[in-house]
Amino acid sequence: MAHSDSLSRDADLDAFWMPFTANRQFKAKPRLLARASGMHYFTPEGRQILDGVAGLWCVNAGHGRSEITEAVARQLGTLDFAPTFQMAHPSAFELATALARIAPPGLDRIFFTNSGSESVDTALKIALAYHRARGDAARTKLIGRERAYHGVGFGGISVGGIGSNRKTWSASLLPGVDHLAHTHDLKRNAFSRGQPAHGAELAEELERRVALHDPSTIAAVIVEPIAGSTGVLIPPRGYLERLRQICDRHGILLIFDEVITGFGRVGAPFAAQEFGVTPDIMTTAKGLTNGAVPMGAVLAKRSIHDAFMQGPEGTIELFHGYTYSAHPTACAAALATLGIYAREGLLTRAKSLAQYWEDAAHSLRGLPHVIDVRNYGLILGLELEPAAGRPGARGYAIYLDCFERGLLVRQSGDIIALSPPLVVERPHIDQMFGTLAEALRNQR
Ligand SMILES: Cc1ncc(COP(=O)(O)O)c(C=O)c1O
Repeated sequence: MAHSDSLSRDADLDAFWMPFTANRQFKAKPRLLARASGMHYFTPEGRQILDGVAGLWCVNAGHGRSEITEAVARQLGTLDFAPTFQMAHPSAFELATALARIAPPGLDRIFFTNSGSESVDTALKIALAYHRARGDAARTKLIGRERAYHGVGFGGISVGGIGSNRKTWSASLLPGVDHLAHTHDLKRNAFSRGQPAHGAELAEELERRVALHDPSTIAAVIVEPIAGSTGVLIPPRGYLERLRQICDRHGILLIFDEVITGFGRVGAPFAAQEFGVTPDIMTTAKGLTNGAVPMGAVLAKRSIHDAFMQGPEGTIELFHGYTYSAHPTACAAALATLGIYAREGLLTRAKSLAQYWEDAAHSLRGLPHVIDVRNYGLILGLELEPAAGRPGARGYAIYLDCFERGLLVRQSGDIIALSPPLVVERPHIDQMFGTLAEALRNQR
């Protein structure tokens, strides 16, 4: 078995069935990453790649943070594993308290998971169980949104809105799920800076769904404040506020999936704070541990948690949990990560760079095939005119070209996303947009 640093094309690539990957295409021409430090990845040949996407929207404090490495090593040497079923360890409580401190107001009861997908399924289960615990068991319907990505659990793909993620399992999705229209509107909002001006009225769709199903049957609405995976869809001004009002009017829980918007990406700890809209339940993962150890967390309003704390004390209130909920190693990584975020001001740093980022982003306007540039905090969505009859081909070509030129971007069809580590400096931003511009000019 080759050492990871010397992995080469000769390594056997067959056994690893890769996730969300064109396996045969990849294995014919693999792209390997061998190590990482700060803002950069390095290939096995030693080529330096600027990380434009914080790995996969998770390495918010930059790569190779020694504080995290040391905390994890210390934890493994002290307590490698402890169950959290009818048992616990101190850092689980410490982390929950630390998270509650940076959370939007009132979301101070925390359930730990191992991923964004698990956080979503946990949030949906809590929402359904909450209504039941209050004697409102007819509230069983869930409402998601087109073009939403909520991970890959059956709950997540049911409320998710990506056809390709759903169609194979369409007969097995959760019953009683409806979807709102997505908010992406190039005709009215192309080249918006920050939140687009048009589309708040799309939230009224929720009123229509409520009228159709009757409010007494609806448990929760789940949305990403900014949808990332389907190509950076930024909420129109007033849209999230309106969703909140409608949910309040009808006793429906509002869930924000903050798996990518959490931990400083938008210039505040969470998008809920940035947009001034507080959900009832919030899902997180990724940036929680800086991507170093898998972990997710669901933050619930205290009133939701307290609704479960009824009945005989010896009763398990929620029949849900994972062997690795609040795994000691993950807790250690998360506590070290939150420490870095606090010491370095990373949860708000995106705000101070947002204008520079926005101006750099919009310099791409007018380059070949660019039909939209959109941005928020340290996020870019760059949308390209699809090549005739070959949707996604142009996006993939740009992705490959950027990689060859030393920049890692994320591609979703013909949309390119950037979401760099929050330790990014202006010269890195210049390099990212300079490289993208070259790749665009290089396209025919
Ligand atoms: C909004 C959102 N929810 C959930 C997930 C799923 O997270 P994971 O891949 O950790 O299961 C993602 C992943 O990108 C995401 O962007």
